[in-house]
Amino acid sequence: MIIDRYIQSSDQLLVQVHICMHAYMAPPIRPSSISVGSGSGSILVLLCLLLLQAVVDAAIVEHTFHVGNLTVERLGQRQVITAVNGQFPGPKVEARDGDTIVVRVVNHSPYNITIHWHGVLQRLSAWADGPAMVTQCPVLPGGAASSYTYRFNVTGQEGTLWWHAHVSFLRATVYGALLIRPRPGARYPFPLPHAEHTLLLGEWWNATASLVDVERQAFLTGGQPANSVALTINGMPGVDARQMNHLRVARGNTYLLRLVNAAINYQLFFKVAGHAFTVVAVDASYTDPYHTDVIVIAPGQTVDALMHAGASPGRYYYVAAQVYQSVANATYTAIARALLRYDDDDDDDEAEKAEGAAIVLMPNMPALNDSATAQRFYGSLTGLLRDGKPTVPQRVDTRMLVTYGLAIAPCAPAQTLCNRTRGSLAASMNNVSFQLPASMSLLEAARARGSPGGVYTRDFPDRPPVMFDFTNASAANGNSSLMFTSRGTRVKALRYNETVEVVLQNTAVLGPENHPLHLHGFNFYVLAQGTGNFRKRRAARAYNLVNPQQRNTIAVPAGGWAVIRFTADNPGVWLMHCHLEAHLPFGLAMAFEVADGPTPDAILPPPPPDYPPC
Ligand code: C2O
Repeated sequence: MIIDRYIQSSDQLLVQVHICMHAYMAPPIRPSSISVGSGSGSILVLLCLLLLQAVVDAAIVEHTFHVGNLTVERLGQRQVITAVNGQFPGPKVEARDGDTIVVRVVNHSPYNITIHWHGVLQRLSAWADGPAMVTQCPVLPGGAASSYTYRFNVTGQEGTLWWHAHVSFLRATVYGALLIRPRPGARYPFPLPHAEHTLLLGEWWNATASLVDVERQAFLTGGQPANSVALTINGMPGVDARQMNHLRVARGNTYLLRLVNAAINYQLFFKVAGHAFTVVAVDASYTDPYHTDVIVIAPGQTVDALMHAGASPGRYYYVAAQVYQSVANATYTAIARALLRYDDDDDDDEAEKAEGAAIVLMPNMPALNDSATAQRFYGSLTGLLRDGKPTVPQRVDTRMLVTYGLAIAPCAPAQTLCNRTRGSLAASMNNVSFQLPASMSLLEAARARGSPGGVYTRDFPDRPPVMFDFTNASAANGNSSLMFTSRGTRVKALRYNETVEVVLQNTAVLGPENHPLHLHGFNFYVLAQGTGNFRKRRAARAYNLVNPQQRNTIAVPAGGWAVIRFTADNPGVWLMHCHLEAHLPFGLAMAFEVADGPTPDAILPPPPPDYPPC
C-alpha cells in the first residue's frame, strides 16, 4: 500500500521518500533498531518515518490524462470516440480523504476540452472546477503543448464521485470514476465490505460522424439531439455475451457497489437479479442504511450500496440498468446488462452457454415511467449524523424560488438553422435562458479581471417574473409570456458564508419533466420534495431539519418541487444546471457568485500559471 502511495507522490516527495528508503534499508540500521536505537542514524529514520506518515496521511495523487481519439467496436460497429489514455471508460482516480489530486490534462483531440470533478467541493480551488466558460476557457487542441493541470484537495469528502468532460457533448465518452476512501486508520460508518465493484452507467451512440458534431448540429437546428442506441455498464451494452462485463463474487461475502450515472439523458433503475442492497451513501455523502432491491439514479448522481452475495448456487444473475422516464409516453426500452458470477461457477464456457439458457436470472424491472418507485427511493433517504460533522443550517439568510423547465427562446445569433419566427427549443430558470459567455470565463471576469462588465450581470432574479399555476399544463401552455424566455448571463451574488434556501419548482410550460439539477462547489441538504406546486405552509411541515440527505445533484420530481439548503462557504463562481446534457446548451442553468470571506483561509487564491487563455 505504502509503495502505491510513493508511486502516486510528486517528484519532490519521491526524492525524499527514496532518501528515507535508503536510510531505512541501509546497514547497520535495521528496522529492529528503530525502537531501541540511538544516534543520528536512528533520528534520521525516525524523522523519515514521520515524513512517511505525513505522506501516507495526505498523499499527492498524480495522473496525466491524454485526451485523444480511440477506435472501439460496440454493437458490431467500429467507431472513433474521444477518450482519456486510450481507455473507455477513462482511468479511475483513487484518493483518500485529505489527499491532493493533481491531474495534467493534455489535449491531443480535435476538440476543445475541459474536465470537471463532479461533486468535488473545490474549496479555494474554483479554478480547477472545470465547466467551460464558467471557471475556465477550454484547453484547445494542440497536442503536447496544450495542457492544463487541475490541482485540488479532497479534504472532508468520502465516497464515490466521478469526473467528466464539461464542454460540448464530449462527456458521452470522456468520463471515469473518482473514489475517495477514508483516511488511513479511519473507517467506513458501515461494516467493512470484502471487496468493491465500481459500475459506471452510460449511453452509447452508433454515430458514423463524431458524436460531438451530431449533437452540435442538432442543437444548432433547434431540435432535440439524437437518442442513444444503448445503455452501458462500464462501457459495455451487454446485449450479447461477447461484450458483457462479468462481476465476480465469492459466496457469503459482502460487496460495496459504487454506482455512477454517467448517462447523458436518462435516469436509471438498477437491479441485480436475486439480490438486494443496503444503500450507505449517495453523492459521496453517507446515508442511514436503506434497504431496497431497486436503485434509482439520475445523471450526475452516485450511489454506494452494500450487496451480500448469498443467492442460490448453480445460477447466474444479471446486473441490469434500464431507464426511468418521467414522461407518460416513455419509449426508450434499451437495457444494459452485466453478468454476476459466483466463484463456485468457475467455468468460462459454462458462463457463455448459460447466457442462452434459462439459468441466468433477469431481474424484474419496474415500468419505464414508474415514478412511484423513483419517488419512494429518493424520498426514503436520510443523512447519517456523524460526530463532529456539520449538520443542516437552521438559519436562512437568502430565500429563492426558482422555476425551471423547457421553453421557447428567440434564435441566438449563432443558431444558423433556427426558425426565425417560431424561435427554438430552449430551457430556463426564472425565465432566463442561461448563455455561456464567449470571450472569457465567469470566474476569470470576476476574479482575475475583477469585474463582470461585458461578461455577466449580477441580477439573476430571486423569483419568477410572474406567479402562475406552475404545474398545470393547460394554464401554462399557450400563454406566450410564460412560453417565451429571454436569454442572459445572469448570476446570483452571495456573501461569504450566507445560508441559502432554494425552492426548485418544475413547470409544465412545455410539459413537465424530471430534471436532475446539479450544483457545483457545494453539497446541499434536501429538506423536502413533492409533486404539484410548492405551497409554503404545507411544505414547511414536511421539512426534515434533523437528518436530511445531502447531495450535489437532485432529481426534482416531474411537475414537482424540492427545497434545498446550503452554506455559501466557498468563494468562486459555481454553476447550477440540469445534468441532462442537451438541457445545458438550451440554457437550463444559472450560477452563484460567492465573495471572499474576511480571513486568509476564506480567500480564493489567484489562478494557476497555466490557466488556459481564451
Ligand atoms: Cu457533472 Cu456541471 O456537471
